[in-house]
Amino acid sequence: MPKVYINDHEFEASEKDTVLTAVQKFGGYIPTLCYMNLKDINIENKPSSCRVCMVEIEGRRTLAPACTTPVFEGMKVKTHSRMAVEARRTAVQLLLSDHPQDCLKCPKNGDCELQKIASELNIVNNPYLGKTSNYDLDISAAIIRDPNKCIMCRRCETMCNEFQTVGVLSAIDRGFGAVVKPSFDMPLEETTCTFCGQCVAVCPTGALVERSYIDEVWKELENEEKHVVVQTAPAVRVALAEEFGYEPGTISTGKLVGALKLMGFDKVFDTNFGADLTIMEEATEFKERLENGGFLPMLTSCCPGWVKFIEHQFPDGSLSNMVDRID
Ligand code: SF4
Ligand code: SF4
Ligand code: FES
Repeated sequence: MPKVYINDHEFEASEKDTVLTAVQKFGGYIPTLCYMNLKDINIENKPSSCRVCMVEIEGRRTLAPACTTPVFEGMKVKTHSRMAVEARRTAVQLLLSDHPQDCLKCPKNGDCELQKIASELNIVNNPYLGKTSNYDLDISAAIIRDPNKCIMCRRCETMCNEFQTVGVLSAIDRGFGAVVKPSFDMPLEETTCTFCGQCVAVCPTGALVERSYIDEVWKELENEEKHVVVQTAPAVRVALAEEFGYEPGTISTGKLVGALKLMGFDKVFDTNFGADLTIMEEATEFKERLENGGFLPMLTSCCPGWVKFIEHQFPDGSLSNMVDRID
């Protein structure tokens, strides 16, 4: 077990620790942007590209990125030396030098990791001004891509390629023109994207955001001539509870229905009933296939993204034949 010194405090790290993980276990803080470690699903992204985690290590000529530098016996780390903090400020200023300064109308305002780090580092001016990117927005039914806000952290690419195995997003071009996009610069809607939203969930900036229909909904709710109904999917009652700080898995059906009624919906329907009917239909089809020598195994999902995944990724029919489609 290597003994390290974090800001002069002795700490026993593990052989596998990087400076970042050792400092986190010690209870310290080093800002990160490109680094992502989703332990539950065993996904790690550490391209070491943002350089906002720079630290000073005694005896080393240059600063080191904490996220990829392994610890060693006797290592002496300064997480907040003047030189390290100045390097972080410079890294963030350089990122901001090619970033639209439109926080007030950005969908990620208040929930943006770049904004948070810029604020932590007290960045109120930027000496690095010059050429800026000018990409078109890619607006699909579910996701809005704004490559002008991409900081090349590659988290989305890791999720799309390694976790979802869809492979829609990757870094293209070099130098100033480098950006993460679908191949041939295609709009997302023309790719094999399943709109799972995993890339949106991990993007630290407003480069990938969910398309919001909130204004349209409020407009209809205010229309007294209109009878407005809402139908919620089974997962929403759990996801919403988690968003409001309840234990993962907490069911918030009552609160959800109450809130929707307060907002002004005339009727609230639950997809659970439809889901039950789907399961009955699937069971019937499975029984029929089993009894009559049909194609097995039978794969089934009511998620259109999942069906799209099978159709695009296994177009030869090897898996498509197994799919039970209820449109
Ligand atoms: S789109 Fe978002 S997640 Fe993907 S590389 Fe750019 S900033 Fe990172
Ligand atoms: S939404 Fe599309 S681009 Fe994003 S991770 Fe899912 S499949 Fe990939
Ligand atoms: S978080 Fe370490 S280089 Fe980006």
